Amino acid sequence: YVMGVDLGTSAVKILLVNQNGEVCHEVSKSYPLIIEKSGYSEQNPEEWVEKTTAGLAELIDVFDGDVSDIEGISFSGQMHGLVLVDHEGQVVRNAILWNDTRTTPQCEEIYDVVGKQRLLEITKNPALEGFTLPKILWVKEHEPEILERSSLFMLPKDYLRYRITGHIHMEYSDAAGTLLLDIAKREWSQEILNLFDLSTGFCPPLIESHDFVGTVTEQIAKETGLSDKTKVFAGGADNACGAIGSGILNEGKTLCSIGTSGVVLSYEERNDLDFEGKVHYFNHGEENAYYTMGVTLAAGYSLSWFKDTFATEEDFDQFLDGVDEVAAGSNGLLFTPYIVGERTPHADSSIRGSFIGIDAAHERKHFARSVLEGITFSLNESIEIFRNSGKTIDSIISIGGGAKNETWLQMQADIFNAKVEKLASEQGPGMGAAMLAAYGCGWYPSLKDCAQEFIQTSKTYYPIKENVEVYKNLFKIYQQVYTQTKELND
Ligand code: XUL
Repeated sequence: YVMGVDLGTSAVKILLVNQNGEVCHEVSKSYPLIIEKSGYSEQNPEEWVEKTTAGLAELIDVFDGDVSDIEGISFSGQMHGLVLVDHEGQVVRNAILWNDTRTTPQCEEIYDVVGKQRLLEITKNPALEGFTLPKILWVKEHEPEILERSSLFMLPKDYLRYRITGHIHMEYSDAAGTLLLDIAKREWSQEILNLFDLSTGFCPPLIESHDFVGTVTEQIAKETGLSDKTKVFAGGADNACGAIGSGILNEGKTLCSIGTSGVVLSYEERNDLDFEGKVHYFNHGEENAYYTMGVTLAAGYSLSWFKDTFATEEDFDQFLDGVDEVAAGSNGLLFTPYIVGERTPHADSSIRGSFIGIDAAHERKHFARSVLEGITFSLNESIEIFRNSGKTIDSIISIGGGAKNETWLQMQADIFNAKVEKLASEQGPGMGAAMLAAYGCGWYPSLKDCAQEFIQTSKTYYPIKENVEVYKNLFKIYQQVYTQTKELND
């Protein structure tokens, strides 16, 4: 057996997976966000450790096999969060999380000091509030004595792994979201560190996601019931692990994941493409591989907002009943899902959404369908960016809310103009973490081999030619709505 621990933003989820890639047991333990002020989002790292150990203990309790058969553990984690520790490895303040947005001035400072072009050359990414370096600079400015006491920084799941093994490391897929890593050279950027007066020792040693880091400490073994011989492997960022757990391990493979926000993530062999920072460009959890990723801020959220506002009593199935009776294009009704602003391609927090083309003949089902179409058009913007860079995107795995409805799956195939596949069993980033442990334990010669065994698709949706044409034309109009409505909310 192997275990995959996914340290999320609201909960830690732990999967126990057998040799065939089947989930035998799973537990989830939640923890709160600490929101001191609007825009702030923090967590106490001690809480991650307590909830993970309690979850592991609970899992071992229900496991009726021999604990020494649990060969390895690995991790997936919420990205970008800043954990600062002193020279004794003690945490010096709460972690500042990826969804904390207090750092706009620090992002401007990064552009001023490094230069936008140079930042993109080294880190491949723009300075966004969620990333780690702006958080370090915020602490430097507002709590200088805290930064002085800090001897190094870690990311959430790296801190958790340190507490489980006693060893400090960071792996590439998560380091990629710090704005301190030279993505292509796969080393800490001395240039950026120097510009902000940070020492190399402030950054943990870098390793691969499947690298062995040590065994579980005696203390953790005692608290959880795990064997102290259980091997621990580095793990990866949640998006990288989500990709691994969905089999996004070959050029041409793309993931469409619709939760509250929506992500389109594409496997990337190369590290020398230029997306001008329009999409995230990170190291994968597979060695020497990368992925690009675009984000729709309100994907599932647009749908739940619409349902909760106009059909409070219904569940999603009832609410979407009838959307398949409406033809592609919703009889001229068009929705843009910018209800909380947009990330890709506009990076605009002030833009707002719209319904356009309302006709007296439209019924609620037309509105519901146009919401699904608007969300999918927004995700298609990311696919367009990938395609415009020369990538071929013809096969997409769909997971999350978008994979729960047949009409939506077919719509994705038609709007993306690509084959869309659904997974037989969807387990999320925890499965990617378990696969890293399986690969690390030597069960398979590569992650790709592991994916062949662990990940199966259950149904494929092919683009319908007539619908593809309708959507191609509508997408052009959709793209104009942003510029035409921008002034409304400026
Ligand atoms: C990615 C990002 C989020 C977090 C969520 O850039 O900020 O997806 O990883 O856990």
